[in-house]
Amino acid sequence: MSTDRGPATDRFDRPLGDLRISVTDRCNFRCVYCMPREVFGPGFEFLSRSELLTFEEIHRLAGIFVDLGVDKIRLTGGEPLLRRDVDQLVGMLAGLAGLSDLTMTTNASLLPRKAEALRAAGLRRITVSLDALDDDVFRAMSDVKVPVSTVLDGIRAASEAGLSPVKVNMVVKRGANEDQILPLAEYFRGSGHILRFIEFMDVGNSNGWRMDDVVTAREIRDTVDARWPLEPLDPNYTGEVANRYRYRDGEGEVGIIASVTRPFCGSCTRARITANGELFTCLFSGTGHDLREPLRAGASDEELRAMIRGIWERRADRYSELRSRATVDLPRVEMSRIGG
Ligand code: GTP
Ligand code: 5AD
Ligand code: SF4
Ligand code: SF4
Repeated sequence: MSTDRGPATDRFDRPLGDLRISVTDRCNFRCVYCMPREVFGPGFEFLSRSELLTFEEIHRLAGIFVDLGVDKIRLTGGEPLLRRDVDQLVGMLAGLAGLSDLTMTTNASLLPRKAEALRAAGLRRITVSLDALDDDVFRAMSDVKVPVSTVLDGIRAASEAGLSPVKVNMVVKRGANEDQILPLAEYFRGSGHILRFIEFMDVGNSNGWRMDDVVTAREIRDTVDARWPLEPLDPNYTGEVANRYRYRDGEGEVGIIASVTRPFCGSCTRARITANGELFTCLFSGTGHDLREPLRAGASDEELRAMIRGIWERRADRYSELRSRATVDLPRVEMSRIGG
């Protein structure tokens, strides 16, 4: 194990490339596939403020990850805009030399108020989760009273602030919102924003996942293609998780993320840090590696770099490729803790 800078590579030769940082485990939504209210109810114990990494700690860790090959950072949650002054963190991260991408995944409910400040701080683009255009279906998915119009206002505010193109993520769950595929496609066609459909995944142990609830990428593509013919596009970069398609009539593109039926572990360069500083090398891991303890005990940058490099070099995760009947019951971190 070496302590020098330079790219870290795991046991399957996958370089460390992306860092996804969760800044809070709280969310003001209760999406059925992520934070079902029965589990994340009034009695649920979220992280306390002192457990959260401070902005200085996040910034320091991020710099170390950049030394090890990360050039893309995504802020997530929970809902990242619930973290007070998160635009200040954006400003600190935007100053890291060596980053080619700095973005965020949000439910957009607070975006109408915050888009300008995020852009001014140095955020480059943004991804918004939106599972329906119809208010009743949206409410059934998100389990909150926020209307769809607020999310659409957030997308507009982001776009006007220059955070464009906005990517819009729709998780498709059978029997819940698959009737919203075409309405959302219609709404975003020609808008310049990029709608991406995501197969419902078995992240965490709370969402009651069953394979029967997955609307497959093929079904999604066929549904859209039958209405507005599609043709495949090349990926923007190696390892892009979405398969891209363009509308043949020139009205833009959509993406389909087939994490269940066509896993992409072979090119997975993503590391994730929870809001309390645990490093996860896979979205489906049962346990993380505590970085906060050494950070607060006074470890030097070199020591932290060596520790993280060692964790990455031992990495052999490829959960989605190994998914089977037997893996469904294994303990896994919740999506709201680890981020999307
Ligand atoms: P771009 O940088 O805009 O291409 O975004 P991205 O492809 O990184 O997409 P985003 O972060 O918006 O992720 C979209 C969704 O894809 C997530 O919410 C997850 O549902 C799924 N996803 C992303 N990364 C992984 C991963 O490493 N493993 C699995 N199984 N699913 C993932
Ligand atoms: N399956 C697929 N995607 C999920 N997300 C959260 N839970 C799931 C799941 N079970 C994604 C949503 C959201 C992001 C934060 O995480 O796309 O946009
Ligand atoms: Fe919140 Fe996003 Fe999870 Fe929905 S998917 S509960 S908006 S973190
Ligand atoms: Fe990466 Fe794990 Fe997702 Fe596979 S299942 S793509 S290894 S995060």
